[in-house]
Amino acid sequence: MFFSEPKVSLPAYVAIFDTTLRDGEQMPGCALRPEEKTEIAHQLDMLGVDVIEAGFPIASEGERQAIKSITKEGLNSEICGLARSNKADIDAVISCNVDRVHTFIATSALHMEKKLKMTPEEVIEHAVSGVEYVKDHGLKSEFSAEDATRSDIEFLKKVFASAVEAGADVVDIPDTVGVAIPRTMFHIVREVKSAVNVPVAVHCHDDFGLAVANSLASVEAGAEQVHVCVNGIGERAGNASLEEVALALQVHYGIQTGIRTEEIYKTSQLVMRLMRVPIAPNKAIVGANAFAHESGIHSHGVLVSPKTYEPIAPEMVGARRKFVAGKHAGKHGVKAILESMGIYPTENQLDEIIYRVKELGDKGIKVSDADLEGVARALIGEIPSEEKSLELIDVTVVSGNKVQPFAVVRLKVNSDVKTYTNFGVGPIDASVRAVKMVAKDLVNFDLTGFELRSIGKGTEALGEVTVDIEDDERNVVSSRAVREDIVLAGIEAVIDAVNRLILTRKGKTGAK
Ligand code: KIV
Ligand code: ZN
Repeated sequence: MFFSEPKVSLPAYVAIFDTTLRDGEQMPGCALRPEEKTEIAHQLDMLGVDVIEAGFPIASEGERQAIKSITKEGLNSEICGLARSNKADIDAVISCNVDRVHTFIATSALHMEKKLKMTPEEVIEHAVSGVEYVKDHGLKSEFSAEDATRSDIEFLKKVFASAVEAGADVVDIPDTVGVAIPRTMFHIVREVKSAVNVPVAVHCHDDFGLAVANSLASVEAGAEQVHVCVNGIGERAGNASLEEVALALQVHYGIQTGIRTEEIYKTSQLVMRLMRVPIAPNKAIVGANAFAHESGIHSHGVLVSPKTYEPIAPEMVGARRKFVAGKHAGKHGVKAILESMGIYPTENQLDEIIYRVKELGDKGIKVSDADLEGVARALIGEIPSEEKSLELIDVTVVSGNKVQPFAVVRLKVNSDVKTYTNFGVGPIDASVRAVKMVAKDLVNFDLTGFELRSIGKGTEALGEVTVDIEDDERNVVSSRAVREDIVLAGIEAVIDAVNRLILTRKGKTGAK
């Protein structure tokens, strides 16, 4: 706990009721095959959720098959199915051999009048007969009052009390359209708890981004169970996120849950992959940036003591810390990334790598690990300035559909400055031809290989050029250069190869 909480009587244990396979799958565009549902159920069991709501069996034959195959697996988590408070729905759930039947009926005036076209008395009758039917079959009963947070509180208490009298083992308060604020949830849970003597659950939707806060406020008021979905998926804006609620309960409130937190990241990735719902990079706990550090200040802090900028240790949720190279990057972070790639630059090389990375970042280019590796490997292999026979000063290229492409290249040739112009089929060809013109005055060679590769995707990706040159003594030298400008990469690679060839001929090693 980070600071002392006001006095509230918190439950010692909060049960995690996972509805990823039911409310989560109701997210527009989500549909799982039975074997995919079973794979997720296995992982939820591994994660340690108390209840898996496996689906809404009346919906389809495929849904029933999926739930039946989950109940056959003999998981430790209880398996539950959803039913409206009517016999046909409940029979469909019972036929799937579940442990728990979750029945629901709406209790707000709006839903009763417009959707159900039932009087409040009829709603109570349906709620009661549904629970009784479940209990007659010897199963555990959980009852939800749909749209509870927009229901008259006295009526809501009456419905729940009647359901408990009929045998409900758990009653659930859904904030169906996510309109509650934490104080409202706290108040409703308190009121409902005064009317029933069974565990109270909450089911919060995220329409106002308050689902997690509302779930926690409910626990503060004594709720013993929370309905959640992995990655916060679910109808419309989703449900309370399992990982956020579970971690907050453990870290902020010191409340025990059955969750093995180190399984969180793996579960999140599996659900993302099978549900095909991407996770926002800045999503708490499981987003790609949740444990990523770019700025120099943060990277340095984390390397010295992770707690400085990591309120949650990545290992706690089975994730990994990541340093990212970019315009805010600092020495420590970039050094750590390079070392993880097995690259150990000198101080000067590291400064130059950071300079180039920031240059890319300032141009709005996202520097991937592959980009950084390319920049570093190319730079580390560079030969010292005093040993270079040729050095590029500047280059200008002209290209278009109405001109023959040409390049003007200014080079330092030993101590002289020379300018060469040449034409080509394109700007790279023209500039490489210009470099070749001058290089031939120093050494006779052929360009035997020229390969251009993009590192990363998109038009802003870095270009990597690899060249091979061979002289008349059959010395073969390769070189490569990485730049966001492929013309520059091409020229630099050829110049570097020529310098190496000259060193090789002088008896020094020019191999890269
Ligand atoms: O949001 C809701 O009200 C539900 C119920 C079926 C519990 O998902
Ligand atoms: Zn819901």
